[in-house]
Amino acid sequence: MPHYPPEPFRIKMVEPIRLIDPEERRAAIRQAGYNLFALRSEDVYIDLLTDSGTGAMSHHQWAAMLQGDEAYAGARSYFHLAEAVKEVFGFKFFLPTHQGRAAENILSALLIKPGQCVPSNMHFDTTDANIRARGGRPTNLVIDAAFDPQNRHPFKGNMDIQKLSAFIEQTGPENIPFGMITITNNAGGGQPVSLSNLRDTAAVYRRYQIPFFIDACRFAENAYFIKMREPGYSAKSTWEIAREIFTLADGATMSAKKDAIVNIGGLLLLNDEALYQRACNELILREGFTTYGGLAGRDLDALATGLYEGLDESYLRYRLGQTAYLAEKLLENGIPIIEPPGGHAVYLDAGRFLPHLPHSQFPGQALAVELYLRGGIRAVEIGSVMFAHPDADTGEMIYPQLELVRLALPRRVYTQSHLDYIVEILVEIAQYRENIQGYQFTYAPELLRHFTARFEPVTG
Ligand SMILES: Cc1ncc(COP(=O)(O)O)c(C=O)c1O
Repeated sequence: MPHYPPEPFRIKMVEPIRLIDPEERRAAIRQAGYNLFALRSEDVYIDLLTDSGTGAMSHHQWAAMLQGDEAYAGARSYFHLAEAVKEVFGFKFFLPTHQGRAAENILSALLIKPGQCVPSNMHFDTTDANIRARGGRPTNLVIDAAFDPQNRHPFKGNMDIQKLSAFIEQTGPENIPFGMITITNNAGGGQPVSLSNLRDTAAVYRRYQIPFFIDACRFAENAYFIKMREPGYSAKSTWEIAREIFTLADGATMSAKKDAIVNIGGLLLLNDEALYQRACNELILREGFTTYGGLAGRDLDALATGLYEGLDESYLRYRLGQTAYLAEKLLENGIPIIEPPGGHAVYLDAGRFLPHLPHSQFPGQALAVELYLRGGIRAVEIGSVMFAHPDADTGEMIYPQLELVRLALPRRVYTQSHLDYIVEILVEIAQYRENIQGYQFTYAPELLRHFTARFEPVTG
């Protein structure tokens, strides 16, 4: 029997949720153009769209918010954040940004020239789009095990070091303005990267003098996976592991809406002073002054407090245990998922669940719509809707290897009975899965199309 870890907190404030009638759900999703992003959240019963900015803040964070200093420049809140950032990450310079993609935008704007390539294990959609928006080419070089849903490799987010070296040789280091790695690898199932792989990745980038940036959204969850799974790290604290990770890099981008458990916020972290100065100008142009970066003072204080809470080991044990519980219950009931489960989410393998639907009919979108229709559950497709794109040279459509639906667990929000309900709904859907129809676009923008695309069922 899968074990559910007791929450290391008690609940002091609640927000009512309700399951609207099946007919109302049918009308709501039709009106939303079958895009779950277009639903009103009040029409959703259990919202697993994202773990980003949806966590429940602690009483310490709410108390910190009340102490926010709203001065335009040099606010006390900024210095609280600066202290936390220094302790956790150790980089020489940092800028607050309103969220992760703002940090990605600044980095891309400053470093990428059209035609240049940016390798990573796997870029997340906003990183991918920010690189493309500057004429760059994002390149994913994760290990092959990442594409085998049943391979229980402990670090499926690892970079393929041989592929990385070969790619740099082939592309020429002068055409690579910076290299990245995403921890944990959200686009590939929320899978962690080992410290030895981070060390090897850093060594390759260093050998070719390519600046190395970490996409650090879920660095604390990644650190706890290292503690649990990597030989030699069980006695180290997640703090020590995190510090070791960041000493390997030249900088990082971070959406603080994940492991810093805040509703808004991001960070750009750097060691290069000249680059930092250019980043300051870019930040002032688009986000705000360097000591607030598009955030309110109270947001900076909540973020400073959340950075410490996100690294707390009793919280991380519960957090990863909760995800593992949902995953194991689904497996017990024959629902195909990416194994082993990642940190922040369980990824349903829609390709295997709905084998009658080809990539072009978006099996992930079809399953996500069905989850809403059947149970009022909102999830997100991570497959061809999000990632299929025409080849830059040939124009031929390139489909991702996996068609997934991500059930992202907001931090400290849902309980065991919510997770059991999700399993029940999926078991019901499995009974009529061959009748589920595919979808096609009626509208799709060029970049980040999953956010605003509209669909219709494929009939016939
Ligand atoms: C790995 C990764 N990088 C970057 C981002 C972008 O962060 P934000 O939504 O704060 O802009 C996300 C958000 O989901 C993410 O998961």
